Amino acid sequence: MFTLSHTPLIKEDEIASRIADLARMIADDLRRYGPITAVPMLRGCFVFAADLLRALSREGVEIDEVCFLTASSYGSGTTSSGTIKVLQSITTDLKDRNILLLDDIIDTGRTLKHIKELLGDMQPSRIMTCTLLDKPSRREVEFEPDYVGFSINDVFVVGYGLDFDQKYRALPYIGIIEEQIA
Ligand code: XMP
Repeated sequence: MFTLSHTPLIKEDEIASRIADLARMIADDLRRYGPITAVPMLRGCFVFAADLLRALSREGVEIDEVCFLTASSYGSGTTSSGTIKVLQSITTDLKDRNILLLDDIIDTGRTLKHIKELLGDMQPSRIMTCTLLDKPSRREVEFEPDYVGFSINDVFVVGYGLDFDQKYRALPYIGIIEEQIA
C-alpha cells in the first residue's frame, strides 16, 4: 500500500522563495533576447508554470505566448513506461522564438530530451529548459536542464501539480509517497 508521508519534503515557503530566485536568474539570462514563448508540459507542470511565469512577469520578462504540450511517460503507479507519448502537440509556429520549456521533474531525462528535440525541429532561436525538481541519480540519458529548482533523492514525490494515480496534485507542498510494508 502506498501512502503520503506526514512530513513535507519541500514546504510551501521554500518553493515560493526558490521560484523567485529562479525567475531572477532566468530574467537576467534571457531578458536580452526579447519575448519568451513558454512551453509548460502538462499535466504535472501546471502549478509550477503558473507561479514561475507570473514571477518572470514581475521581473519584467515579456512572455509572448504560453503553448501547452501534453506528454506522458508514466502509466499508473510510480514507474515510468519508458515510452514518451505526445498526447497534445503544439500548433503554434515556433520558428525564431525564444523557448522556455518547463517541466515539473526530470527523472531518467528521456521526456525532456525527446521534447526538446521535437521543438528543435521547429527551428526556434533557442530552447532553454527548466524543471522544478531533479532526480540526478535516476538519469538514463545525457541531459541537464538549464535551470533546476531543487535536486532531490530517488523518492516518488507528489503535490504542487505532481500526482500519484492522479491524486495529490492540489497539495500546496511537495510530499513523498511511501510504500507500507505489511
Ligand atoms: P523522465 O524519466 O522522462 O520523467 O525524466 C519525467 C516525467 O516523469 C514523471 N515523474 C514523476 N511524477 N512523481 C511524479 O508525480 C515523481 O516522483 C516522478 N518522477 C518522474 C513526471 O511526469 C515527469 O514529467
